[in-house]
Amino acid sequence: MSHEVASEDEIEPGTVLLDRFRVDHLFAVGGMSVLYRGVDLTTSLPIAVKVLPSRLRTKRLAARFEREARMAIGVRHPNWVVTHEAGALESGTPYLVMELLEGETVYDRLRYDGPFSLPDAVKILCAVLDGVHAAHQHHIIHRDLKPSNVFLTREGPVKLIDFGLSKDLGSQQDRTMVTGPGEALGTPSYMSPEQVLAEDVDPRTDMWGAGVLFYEMVTGFRAFPRAEGGVQDTFTMVLEHEPRLATERNPSLPFAINVVLAKALQKEKEDRFGTIAELREALAALV
Ligand SMILES: Nc1ncnc2c1ncn2[C@@H]1O[C@H](COP(=O)(O)OP(=O)(O)O)[C@@H](O)[C@H]1O
Ligand SMILES: [Mg+2]
Repeated sequence: MSHEVASEDEIEPGTVLLDRFRVDHLFAVGGMSVLYRGVDLTTSLPIAVKVLPSRLRTKRLAARFEREARMAIGVRHPNWVVTHEAGALESGTPYLVMELLEGETVYDRLRYDGPFSLPDAVKILCAVLDGVHAAHQHHIIHRDLKPSNVFLTREGPVKLIDFGLSKDLGSQQDRTMVTGPGEALGTPSYMSPEQVLAEDVDPRTDMWGAGVLFYEMVTGFRAFPRAEGGVQDTFTMVLEHEPRLATERNPSLPFAINVVLAKALQKEKEDRFGTIAELREALAALV
């Protein structure tokens, strides 16, 4: 993410969307998005408007973005960012309007402060798992758990952001349109074996995601670092190799953490924890 890309401007500052949301200025550029800060004129509360940049406005990515918007609006949970509305600009660019979060992502925190203490990491992971579990109840799999998609708000709550890759298990359209067979979307290091292989994902895919997220939070290293040889090599690591033991990366960690991580990061979904609640319990038992 960078903050200095002004050429990505998609919305004229001052534009009012849906007669309600005023867009003020660009504040972040993500891998798949441009974010603006603005105001909800009915409540005076700050908002974030996420837009698909025009360079990425292919039919498929626009469809994916609109799907994200629909799903995001459908989920209300203390550990999910609140999404107010979605729409499309006159140019056809889809956007969604969210509450503006104040704070930083786990990615930012790791970069500036290094690894989290075990108790902090467990607390954050438990909140992430609560959010993930709530989404699963709606038959939605997040599929993109990683440090930049977990937001630590200044007031306290941990919020999942970015439904960009989420999959609605109930929707036929999801299976046919947005990710066709053999087509993998996501950041290689954070993809589960089933995502790499473009096989079916299910709630246990988010268990893998929670595992790689936790590993990085307590060690400061990715479980499956970007390989020198490129994406294919990273995929091979994900499919065939065990990550280095977390306790080798950070000797202050208890050995039991290796056992929990190894179970969450089993290559076969069937070998992971049976439920998110079981993983949550195992994490809580570490502190
Ligand atoms: N509602 C929000 N409030 C404040 N910052 C946000 C919000 N949503 C996203 N961000 C910031 O913008 C970045 C990119 O947003 P994200 O939804 O993850 O987009 P992408 O699909 O491009 O990854 C996040 O990592 C975070 O720093
Ligand atoms: Mg993101």
